[in-house]
Amino acid sequence: MILVTGGAGYIGSHTCVELLNAGFNVTVFDNFCNSNPEALARVEQITGKKLELIQGDCRDRAALVAALKQSQAIAVIHFAGLKAVGESVEQPLWYYDNNVVGTLRLLEAMQECSVKTLVFSSSATVYGDPVQLPLTENHPLSPTSPYGRSKLMIEEILRDLQHSDHSFRISILRYFNPVGAHPSGLIGEDPQGVPNNLMPFVAQVAVGRREALNVWGNDYPTPDGTGVRDYIHVVDLALGHLKALEALKASQDAQANKYAGCLTVNLGTGRGYSVLDVVHAYEQASKRSIPCQIAPRRSGDIACFYADPGRAFELMGWQAKLGLEEMCASSWHWQSTNPKGYQS
Ligand code: NAD
Ligand code: WQD
Repeated sequence: MILVTGGAGYIGSHTCVELLNAGFNVTVFDNFCNSNPEALARVEQITGKKLELIQGDCRDRAALVAALKQSQAIAVIHFAGLKAVGESVEQPLWYYDNNVVGTLRLLEAMQECSVKTLVFSSSATVYGDPVQLPLTENHPLSPTSPYGRSKLMIEEILRDLQHSDHSFRISILRYFNPVGAHPSGLIGEDPQGVPNNLMPFVAQVAVGRREALNVWGNDYPTPDGTGVRDYIHVVDLALGHLKALEALKASQDAQANKYAGCLTVNLGTGRGYSVLDVVHAYEQASKRSIPCQIAPRRSGDIACFYADPGRAFELMGWQAKLGLEEMCASSWHWQSTNPKGYQS
C-alpha cells in the first residue's frame, strides 16, 4: 500500500493511475484545497480499480498517523502542497506553513509509524537563475520565490533526516514543467481561476474560454525571443515516481544506500521549447488558431531553462518518452471534452 498525499491533484491523480495499473494499492490523503474528489472517481474509472480516500490536512500529525496505520502503507509519495509562485510572494507564511510545516508533520508521523520510504515532489525552481545549461543536479540552489525556498527548505530537512537515520530511503524529484493529460481525456490539469501556466492558458484560449494568449516578452536571448522551457508529459512524470520507488526498494534490498543520501534527480526531457513552439504545436493538435499578443516580460521570468535528465536514467532507468505533440494532443483531448474541468 502506498500513501499518496495530494493524490487528487494534477500530478498526484496521474501517478495514482500508474500505481494502480502497476498493481499497487493506493490510499490518497488530501484536503481538496486545490482539487476535486471527482478526479479520484475518474482514476478508478480509468483503471477499473478502487482506491482508498482519507480527507485530511498534512499539518495534522494525528490524522497522518491514523492514515498511515489504517492504510498499513509501506511508502509515501508526497505531492501535497501549494504551488503558485505569485501567490507565495503575497502570502509567504501560508506557503511555509502548508509546504514546510505540512512536510515536517508528515515526517514525524512516518517516524512514529516506522514508515521510512518517501518520494518527494520538489521542483526545478530550486535552481533559480541558471548559471549553466543544461541544469544538472549539482547546479547551485538559489530559488527566487517563497514557493521555491519552501521546496529547498524541505529538501534540506530531508537530507538532514536521512543523514541522521540511514534507514530512511528518500527520493527528491525535481520536476521541470509538467503538462499534458492522461490519454483517456478523463483526468487533466484543472486550474482554479485564471491559469498562471502557459499550457493550461493556451488550452483555454483554444476552447474559447479566453480570447488571446499574452506572450510575456519576445526579446529574450532565445531563438525566437520568447522564453524556453523543458515541458514534460505528466504521464512520463507519473512513471518517474514508480521508478523512484523501485530504485529505493532496490537500495533497501541491497542493504546499502548506494545513493549516499537522498536519491535526487531531475525529471525533464532535456529539450527546450519556446512559447511560440508550444503555441504552434497546440494549434496543430487542436486545429484551432490561438490568437497571441506580445506583452511585457513577466517579472521573475527566466529566458531559458532545461534539464540534464542523465542522472534519472543512470540511477533509476527513467527517461521521458513522450514529445511535445503528445503533450498538446492529450491536453487538448482533456480540455475539449471537459471544457470547464471537473465541473463540466
Ligand atoms: P495540485 O495543486 O494539482 O495538487 C496538490 C494537491 O495537494 C491538491 O490535491 C491539494 O488539494 C493537496 N493539498 C495541498 N495542501 C495540502 C495539505 N496541507 N494537506 C493535504 N492536501 C493538500 O498540484 P500539482 O501540480 O499536482 O503539484 C503536486 C506537487 O508537485 C506540489 O508539491 C507541487 O509543488 C509540485 N510541483 C508541481 C509543478 C507544476 O508545475 N505542476 C512543478 C514542480 C513541482
Ligand atoms: C512558461 C513560459 C512564460 C503564461 C512555473 C513555476 C515553476 C514550476 C512550473 C512548480 C514562460 C510564458 C506563461 C502566459 C506566457 N512550478 N508564459 N504567457 O514560469 O517556467 O514555471 O511553473 O514548481 O516553479 O515558476 O512556467 O508555464 O508559467 O511559463 O508567455 O500566459 O510561458 O513567460 O516563458 P514557468 P509557466
